[in-house]
Amino acid sequence: MAHAAHQQAMRAAAAHLGRRRFLTVTGAAAALAFSTNLPSAQAAQVRTDALTEDPFTLGVASGDPLPDAVVLWTRLAPRAYEPGNGLPEEGAVRVEWEIARDERFARVARRGTATAHAEFNYTVHVDAKGLDPDRVYWYRFRAGKWTSTVGRTRTAPSHGARVRDVRFGLVSCQAYHDGYFTALKHLAAEDLDAVFHVGDYQYEYAVSAVGGARNYTDRTLPAHFNTETMTLGDYRLRYALYKSDPDLQAAHAAFPWFVTWDDHETENNYAGDVDDNNDPPEEFLIRRAAAYRAYWENMPLRMPQQPDGPDMRLYRRFHYGRLAQFDILDTRQYRSDQAYGDGWQYPGPESEDPSRTLTGATQERWLLDGFQRSTATWNVLPQQVTFSQRKNTTADRSKLSMDAWDGYPASRDRVLAGVEQAGLENFVVLTGDVHVHYALDIKKDFNDSSSKTLGVEFVGTSITSGKDGADKPANWSTMTTANPHMKFYNGRRGYVTVTLDGHQARADYKTVSAVTTPGAPLTTAASFITEAGNPGLQQA
Ligand SMILES: [Fe+2]
Repeated sequence: MAHAAHQQAMRAAAAHLGRRRFLTVTGAAAALAFSTNLPSAQAAQVRTDALTEDPFTLGVASGDPLPDAVVLWTRLAPRAYEPGNGLPEEGAVRVEWEIARDERFARVARRGTATAHAEFNYTVHVDAKGLDPDRVYWYRFRAGKWTSTVGRTRTAPSHGARVRDVRFGLVSCQAYHDGYFTALKHLAAEDLDAVFHVGDYQYEYAVSAVGGARNYTDRTLPAHFNTETMTLGDYRLRYALYKSDPDLQAAHAAFPWFVTWDDHETENNYAGDVDDNNDPPEEFLIRRAAAYRAYWENMPLRMPQQPDGPDMRLYRRFHYGRLAQFDILDTRQYRSDQAYGDGWQYPGPESEDPSRTLTGATQERWLLDGFQRSTATWNVLPQQVTFSQRKNTTADRSKLSMDAWDGYPASRDRVLAGVEQAGLENFVVLTGDVHVHYALDIKKDFNDSSSKTLGVEFVGTSITSGKDGADKPANWSTMTTANPHMKFYNGRRGYVTVTLDGHQARADYKTVSAVTTPGAPLTTAASFITEAGNPGLQQA
């Protein structure tokens, strides 16, 4: 197809899908709803006889918990590594779901029927409602004669509730080709209310080309994983590969996840409609639409997050009683292009242009508005790229990362002004992207260590990206000297657990000794606290 015609067809298809309502239908209303809202599903027979093999190869997940509801997710894929996953190109499969107060499903709280449509790659998103706040539930799915594994989840506390504490995991950067997801196996054994995944859930690169870290001798990958993901089919298949990992499945099955993406779910260091190769924006948006659609399909997200072509509203807000407000950001979709051609550069008029934005104007207004209205003890910002300044030499004038908030200082200043104007005493930023652990004080002026501390930033290292790493990377002493507000820096793989209560926020930085070999033990490399009403990190 000629390029322009192909593009037009893509946009038309995307617009059509955007208008159509995707329903998760429960109970007896199913048949009626299908016939009125889903013409293609009406035509396609809802069937389970296509399932001759176990379709639950990719596990289960839950996410975005509210006080009375949680999203339950699964995807049917009898043959996970094959294009099409062993299911028909068109059609739909009826899937039963149930959520119970006990692990043996003796006390079922809600049950219903959903439909896995070929159009959404046989994924299921159930918004299970009518649940009790701050309670653990177990859930599972059934299709034909097959039953999924059991997932455990937990609702959020009710609005206004006095919550004693909340404990969550911070994870990012799962390069399959760089090693085993051992850190996620350890994460699954933690006692957590929820997990925040702040991006690079999967990578677009050819898996086998960059691979070798995992032992492929018992697990030879088909050749189609040896290409960069470009099409909807590529992205869907890549999610199947990642989600076939048992440690990732265990971590999803243990807790509800709040997810947001970074760049690699789409393409390295893209900015809005500008990709890394500077392809024409209309061309990149076709790829972005494919990536966003596959992301929504494969994550436990609700309807308001469903993409419309190349657009998807991923930033959103959650409350854990009066204790915490979580403003989950998307710093990729709306950002200005990186200044000075990206990478580490000296800041200057281009990066410091006040019209530049990392969040886009609409998201920024939403964020500052949320600060103003907040009554929470802790205001937490789960997001992608490092918020605090990081100089990479001890010289006064030093290069900064143009892809992080350092490349968008006006954007950062507006957020910090919003924090001060709203009178937020307890501001915590959660970050991924850089494949190392950092603990950072957020300064009003990062170049003046005596200036006011406005909050703290916990940066969590990667699950695998960068392979095994080291406790003290080569630039450890330069970075810690050049940035006195950097209280901790560790270059191993792992995750962070964060515990909030009325008195303090505590971060425990967990590391694994290796990811290129399976089964590495877990260590707590360091722990920090910041007191409520007295921002600034102290070693615990
Ligand atoms: Fe990454």
